[in-house]
Amino acid sequence: MSEIAWIEGGTELLDAVGPLWGALNRLHSELSAHFSHADAAGTFDQRKAGLLDKARSATLRVELAQDRRAGRFVGYCVCSVDRDGVGEVDSIYVEPDHRGRGLGHHLMQRALVWMDRQGVRAKVAIVAVGNERVCAFYSRYGFFPRHIVLQQVTGETAFPETGQMGEG
Ligand SMILES: CC(C)(COP(=O)(O)OP(=O)(O)OC[C@H]1O[C@@H](n2cnc3c(N)ncnc32)[C@H](O)[C@@H]1OP(=O)(O)O)[C@@H](O)C(=O)NCCC(=O)NCCS
Repeated sequence: MSEIAWIEGGTELLDAVGPLWGALNRLHSELSAHFSHADAAGTFDQRKAGLLDKARSATLRVELAQDRRAGRFVGYCVCSVDRDGVGEVDSIYVEPDHRGRGLGHHLMQRALVWMDRQGVRAKVAIVAVGNERVCAFYSRYGFFPRHIVLQQVTGETAFPETGQMGEG
């Protein structure tokens, strides 16, 4: 992995994450049965704004993996610890042609060590429905499914027919 340079920092690195985040968002969009690209997570500018907002009350850590020869970023992990002591793996991604070589493990392990150093009481990661195959990766680090969060598709407010008559 010596051909990889690791760059660690905070919100100032978010712009470099943008193109890779876009690839992850496209993946989520392809895998989702109900949410389109725009519906799933919005644009990177929106995601970045959300993370900057989060960073006002949480500590945010960004790590990037850079292919030294190509000079391009090939992976990243964004994680955070909030005021309640909850650590979150906000986003992790490795380019397909660099997978299976330990980059994801490096990013994940260092994120978890960083959280532990801050004394977190819990660690969470949100996995998009459709992308369940990544749960096998997370399970290696002790993360298992706990809740299923449902979200209404924008503009599809529907009141199902119950067949029951209301009272006046
Ligand atoms: C998940 C991801 C970051 C892993 O990156 P990676 O560089 O391929 O991972 P590594 O090579 O470091 O593998 C680490 C270990 O996890 C295992 N692993 C990696 N991906 C896995 C998967 N999808 N399912 C099961 N195990 C997996 C590897 O076999 C390896 O175990 P080993 O050390 O015993 O061989 C990468 O597959 C990815 O970017 N996926 C698409 C994006 C994504 O789904 N992100 C999560 C959003 S919530």
